[in-house]
Amino acid sequence: MDMVGRLAGKRIIITGGVNNIGGEAVRLFIAEGARVVIADIDETGGKEAAVRHGPAAIFLRVDVTDEESVKNMVHDGVAWLGGLDALCQNAGLQYAGPIEELDALRWDRLFAVNTRGIFFGVKYAVPYLRRAGGGAIVNMASLAGKRGAPGVAGYCASKGAVVAFGNALALELAKDRIRVNTICPGWIDTPFNDAAIAHMGGRERQAEFVRQVVPLGRQGTPSEVAPLYVYLASDESSYMTGQALVVDGGIYN
Ligand SMILES: NC(=O)c1ccc[n+]([C@@H]2O[C@H](COP(=O)([O-])OP(=O)(O)OC[C@H]3O[C@@H](n4cnc5c(N)ncnc54)[C@H](O)[C@@H]3O)[C@@H](O)[C@H]2O)c1
Repeated sequence: MDMVGRLAGKRIIITGGVNNIGGEAVRLFIAEGARVVIADIDETGGKEAAVRHGPAAIFLRVDVTDEESVKNMVHDGVAWLGGLDALCQNAGLQYAGPIEELDALRWDRLFAVNTRGIFFGVKYAVPYLRRAGGGAIVNMASLAGKRGAPGVAGYCASKGAVVAFGNALALELAKDRIRVNTICPGWIDTPFNDAAIAHMGGRERQAEFVRQVVPLGRQGTPSEVAPLYVYLASDESSYMTGQALVVDGGIYN
């Protein structure tokens, strides 16, 4: 069978690849001809996803906060894929509430999932990407990593670090032809925002806020973010590195 598609023959590992934005990215990766390691802490959803996608994907359980777990994910993933062309790091976590109520445990947890996990992935994937003659790292940050939002200062800090980390890595890894780009979505309609919405005073308040603040007047959907993963993981973006692409309905301007 001839391989066709924008990602034909590409070998991809994606963390947080089971639900919502990550789940949609996996669907597009496979539709575009890639083979995919779906890595996530959600074992039930992960096993279902692997069955649904058939021979083009496997599921590996990973906890991105745990260095050993990420190391195993990369090694086992590469063993199944036969190499590595792209690492996409989508796993993420959010807490919302007033700053005085944010405690050290939650602060550390935000950084462990959103930021430190991304460091581990890069650390263990780079040797394989180098061996492939280059490749792509695509990290998930947020609009919250580029500008502030009330009630989620810890989350903003952890995602801002992801943007800065990607900027630096792009410079460090360019000589190896490893491109590093970051995705910064605004309000995307998934259960991820439930705590933030509660903190804003509920769904009605959030809907009103979105109408006023988002120039396009609505939230985005996972299928309006996931194509960026395809673009940034593919050779179509071969001249792009060190960018933090915003997809937010026009807020960031
Ligand atoms: N929804 C939004 O409005 C929005 C906006 C900007 C950025 N983001 C980012 O997009 C990403 C995906 O968000 P989503 O809206 O699809 O939410 P989601 O909660 O469905 O996705 C997060 C995924 O990461 C997994 N995960 C969580 N902790 C993990 C861990 N320790 N180890 C491995 N996997 C873990 C979850 O099981 C889940 O599949 C997140 O990084 C989030 O910060 C979302």
